[in-house]
Amino acid sequence: MNIILLGPPGAGKGTQARFLVEERDMMQLSTGDMLRAARTSGTEMGKKVAAVMDAGKLVTDEIVIGLIEEQLTTAKAPGGFIFDGFPRTLAQADALTALMQKVGKKLDTVVEMRVDDAALVERITGRYTCGTCGEGYHDTLKVPAKEGVCDNCGGTEFKRRADDNEESLKTRLMAYYKETSPLIGYYYAKGQLQSIDGLGDIDEVKAAIAGALDTVS
Ligand code: AP5
Ligand code: MG
Repeated sequence: MNIILLGPPGAGKGTQARFLVEERDMMQLSTGDMLRAARTSGTEMGKKVAAVMDAGKLVTDEIVIGLIEEQLTTAKAPGGFIFDGFPRTLAQADALTALMQKVGKKLDTVVEMRVDDAALVERITGRYTCGTCGEGYHDTLKVPAKEGVCDNCGGTEFKRRADDNEESLKTRLMAYYKETSPLIGYYYAKGQLQSIDGLGDIDEVKAAIAGALDTVS
């Protein structure tokens, strides 16, 4: 099954994608993670996008479409792909349709995660991740069982994203409403949209996504 998790920054796309990877053998394709990896490894592209990302603006369609094309043509995903943070513009959505056709796959459903803006700000400003395995945490909403130790891998180094501050978040939210939210209508018109309440706790959202995926499996 190939799905898109669609939602604003902090909606919980990355959190829920990790469950789907573990439990359904799916592969997460997060353009945000790919871009951050390019920055860390210091590639030319990584250097080019760094300032744009930190400011909360979108990087060019050309770059992210290239990243997705590379994965779709080379990666093996027995359980299918989860598109997380892609597509984010109508041009990217059209490119994804064309790419899926090219590799002989189909998009099964688009799950829109609805969360109100106040909750997004709270989620983003408290977010941090394990520096070793990438497990996501939050200062108050999801803390490790033992303080300072990752539940998943036992790591003790944690990191915060450079764009997780109130100023960048405003720009990221604006980019979502201007550039990405038209995709809700785009996929609705294609008969592929399912909307779920992303405001519940992590397990409730997980169950809502499972319910949405059951309708197409
Ligand atoms: P990207 O990495 O995609 O960031 P984003 O879309 O802003 O989304 P986030 O990763 O911030 O949120 P999320 O929905 O994954 O939430 P999470 O699960 O972590 O993109 C970053 C940048 O890269 C962009 O700004 C842009 O510059 C560039 N970029 C990427 N893709 C691009 C593209 N296609 N085109 C152009 N540019 C692109 O959860 C957040 C927090 O909330 C966590 O602390 C978590 O523990 C907590 N939480 C999650 N769910 C719940 C819940 N149900 N209840 C309580 N807390 C919860
Ligand atoms: Mg994410």
